[in-house]
Amino acid sequence: VQDVAPNLSSLNPTGRQAVAWRVLVAALAGIESPEVLDCGGGSGTFAVPLAALGADVTVVDLSADALATLTRRAAETGVAERITAVQGDVEMLRDAVGSRGFDLVLAHEILSAVDDVRAAFAQIVAAVRPGGLLSLLSTNPAAAVISRALAGDLPAALAELRAIEGDLAEPGPDAMRALCEEHGLRIESVHGIGIFSELVPGRALDTPAAREALVELDASSSTLSPFAEIAGRVHLLARKPG
Ligand SMILES: C[S@@+](CC[C@H](N)C(=O)[O-])C[C@H]1O[C@@H](n2cnc3c(N)ncnc32)[C@H](O)[C@@H]1O
Repeated sequence: VQDVAPNLSSLNPTGRQAVAWRVLVAALAGIESPEVLDCGGGSGTFAVPLAALGADVTVVDLSADALATLTRRAAETGVAERITAVQGDVEMLRDAVGSRGFDLVLAHEILSAVDDVRAAFAQIVAAVRPGGLLSLLSTNPAAAVISRALAGDLPAALAELRAIEGDLAEPGPDAMRALCEEHGLRIESVHGIGIFSELVPGRALDTPAAREALVELDASSSTLSPFAEIAGRVHLLARKPG
């Protein structure tokens, strides 16, 4: 694929999604008409721009409303023929998409919504073709502790910390890494997403220079320790052995 034509570049995911977007565009470079599956892809934040890049994208989502928005946005963007919207449950992914393998499977902010994370993850991995890629985006329970404390709600911060200690928090980056390793996937990159944009108050962004600096801060810190470990969200790209 190539980056989106200039008249469509306003579609590209921005803000906290921008780092993950750049990783995916680089990963798909050189693959002609990649086949992509977006699990819980909702209204198409990634699916529509990926289709605009030349990918054939199947979106599986439980929500009929989200899929209706996806279909409308795909039509408005002129990529309707490259998007297949399937109303289905990622916990029964095979029923939704059969046994075909995709070049790239996205599971962005979906594993925190399923009942059985391990079973859903196994189905998601099964949908990646040998040699294909899995793109995972998850919230980071550690960041929830920090943001509650910064908001002045210390009992809530303590409750979030206790949930991590008791293994009751939502599956975060460590759980994602462990699942990838269990399934024999090779982790290619890990990026912290929106490290600073989720911390700075809106009033700090009054000037264009401040907004530009924030984009640069988020991008440059995304792979730097200790910043990446405290990001509100973490993106992980993993490859299935060929
Ligand atoms: C937080 S949104 C994330 C949307 C998109 N992946 C993104 O990152 O912008 C979660 C999406 O997952 C969908 N969803 C939740 N549980 C699901 C399930 N079991 N199977 C399929 N979709 C599900 C919701 O309808 C919603 O569109």
